[in-house]
Amino acid sequence: MYDKVWKHNKIAFGGDYNPEQWDEATWEEDMRLFRLAHIDTVTLNVFSWAALQPDENTYCFDRLDKIMNMARDNGLKVVLATATGAHPAWMAHRYPEILRTEFNGMKRKFGGRHNSCPNSLVYRKYSVRLAEKLAERYKDYDNIIAWHISNEYGGECYCENCEKAFRVWLKEKYKTLDELNRVWNTAFWGHTFYDWDEVVLPNLLSEHFEYDRTMFQGISLDYRRFNSDSILECYRMEYEAVKKYTPDIPVTTNLMGFYKALDYQKWAKYMDIVSWDNYPSNQDSPAQIAISHELMRGVGGGRPFLLMEQTPSVTNWQPYNALKRPGVMRLWSYQAVAHGADSVMFFQMRRSIGACEKYHGAIIDHVGNENTRVFREAAALGAELERIGSATLGTRARHDAAILFDWDNWWGIEYSAGPSCLLKYRDEVQNYYTALYEQNIATDIIGAEDDFSEYGVIFAPILYMVKPGVDEKLKTFVENGGTLVTTFFSGYVDEHDLVVTGGYPGKLRELLGIWVEESDALPEGEKNYFTWEGERHDATLLCDLLHLEGAESLAFYEEDFYAGMPVLTRNVYGKGRAYYVAARSDAAFYRKLAAKIAKEEGITPVLDTPKGVEAALRCNEKNEFLFLLNHEKIEQSVALPKDGTNLLTGEAIGKGNQFSLPPYGVAILKMDV
Ligand code: GLA
Ligand code: ZN
Repeated sequence: MYDKVWKHNKIAFGGDYNPEQWDEATWEEDMRLFRLAHIDTVTLNVFSWAALQPDENTYCFDRLDKIMNMARDNGLKVVLATATGAHPAWMAHRYPEILRTEFNGMKRKFGGRHNSCPNSLVYRKYSVRLAEKLAERYKDYDNIIAWHISNEYGGECYCENCEKAFRVWLKEKYKTLDELNRVWNTAFWGHTFYDWDEVVLPNLLSEHFEYDRTMFQGISLDYRRFNSDSILECYRMEYEAVKKYTPDIPVTTNLMGFYKALDYQKWAKYMDIVSWDNYPSNQDSPAQIAISHELMRGVGGGRPFLLMEQTPSVTNWQPYNALKRPGVMRLWSYQAVAHGADSVMFFQMRRSIGACEKYHGAIIDHVGNENTRVFREAAALGAELERIGSATLGTRARHDAAILFDWDNWWGIEYSAGPSCLLKYRDEVQNYYTALYEQNIATDIIGAEDDFSEYGVIFAPILYMVKPGVDEKLKTFVENGGTLVTTFFSGYVDEHDLVVTGGYPGKLRELLGIWVEESDALPEGEKNYFTWEGERHDATLLCDLLHLEGAESLAFYEEDFYAGMPVLTRNVYGKGRAYYVAARSDAAFYRKLAAKIAKEEGITPVLDTPKGVEAALRCNEKNEFLFLLNHEKIEQSVALPKDGTNLLTGEAIGKGNQFSLPPYGVAILKMDV
């Protein structure tokens, strides 16, 4: 299956190239530099709409033809973009309806990018037409390895078009106004709707008093779904357009990791291959970077993905755009591969001279030649990837544990209006992930619709919204011997953010064997405590006051009026167990809990490594590829589990030998299964 999708014989190396910003003499020089840097893939045409369509009826592909031919003549693979990420100025001038309206009601003029109203028929018509023309024209270029639809889809629009489309979307979903009024609980504050046309978009002009603070969660939640669906429709229309002419070229669009506005679990169903742009800050921990790779692999059902963009050195848009230290670009590139990437690509090949990305890192800097640190590091990595060849392509990342992550739940939790402004879904998910990551326990980030039965343990931090069927799936999972871990603020609402009455955690009550009566939101800095297995741990953020209904308590609060009440519980359910962590705790607690459960489930870490050395596995039927990544500035060594060969050096290494990794060093050991 994957062989059909992947159209390259190695890890693709290259990235966004914008020749439309340069003269042809520069293109020639770029070809020379690409060869020197072992670049074999370029992403073309990302922001060329204005160049390709100078007015409503004229299309002009001469320059793109030249670029496409030049790329082909130079042996380059192409990721061809449909160029619809930014509309031309003439289109905005002539058809103001394509311009977005912001959250505060402000209608935008021409400017910026990712700026088209997703429900504008004009935008849809011309974007699809352009995609179709490109596919028709370049269909026989067998060096195109993927279509890149638009660019980093995102944002939202609150224009009249969108408002009308929202009503249509709602009618389709709820059929009757009675049902709409029910699911939005409009009896509250007398918001009953008697006509579909009375429904308006939830923004600063209506139900919101801040971006994340709404008076009607149900309405805002549906708007988020609607907006994600509207933009997805734009993507799907272009998808269909290019498929008409090139059914065998895989189609993608570059995602952005944990990007809240778009439900990527839904989006990825319509992508032949997932790709994404990785822009961590230098302050991010390796676990914070790794989790996004797991998510992007997860939305694609565990298949390999493309690292479509990263910076070779600096970004321009962070508050402090520190340089990636020597070796870090290579390290983070291999980290992506370790977690499932089959490409290592950058934004951008050549640094622009004007506008807001002129100080964004590039392989070719303003000095214009190969004599830079960044170029040398890129060229060395390019040479290494050539040596690796096809070895790791299509292999699957190992996974034993899973973390459940769900976009609706994310939206629901953070619109919730209480109990605490400190409640952030990603933070809680990260706490569990970091604990697993630091012990090299291979973890997938899965969605509510994924198959749970593949895992020994599922962590579902703050499973606030339990969508239909999810409680049943979790019960079956535990009944059959799995371990579930969930936390405070779980099981409260259904898919409309309507509270499930009859006691928290609602539909999870029986599975967890507890009843949560109240929940205490502690202000920042305030703590309760509990002792578990001889160590004292923090209880912060939200402390549930709960009663046992079949579960046993493993630890108790030590302070305040609920001292002595359970804070960590375990319920035996069928052949499995369901844990409940009633408060946020500290890193030591999460590590201990993850280790204990992994042991109970017979899950072994990929490898025991010193702190800061990451070990991850990708496998196929024949081989295992053990990635060792030293995230520390000091040399570290690990004992190897099996005989193998270091793919990067060709060196054979024996089982049990101490293998030493220099600062930021990497090794990929190829071993037999
Ligand atoms: C995004 C975009 C690129 C570029 C980079 C800069 O990923 O897709 O066009 O703007 O950011 O970091
Ligand atoms: Zn709009």
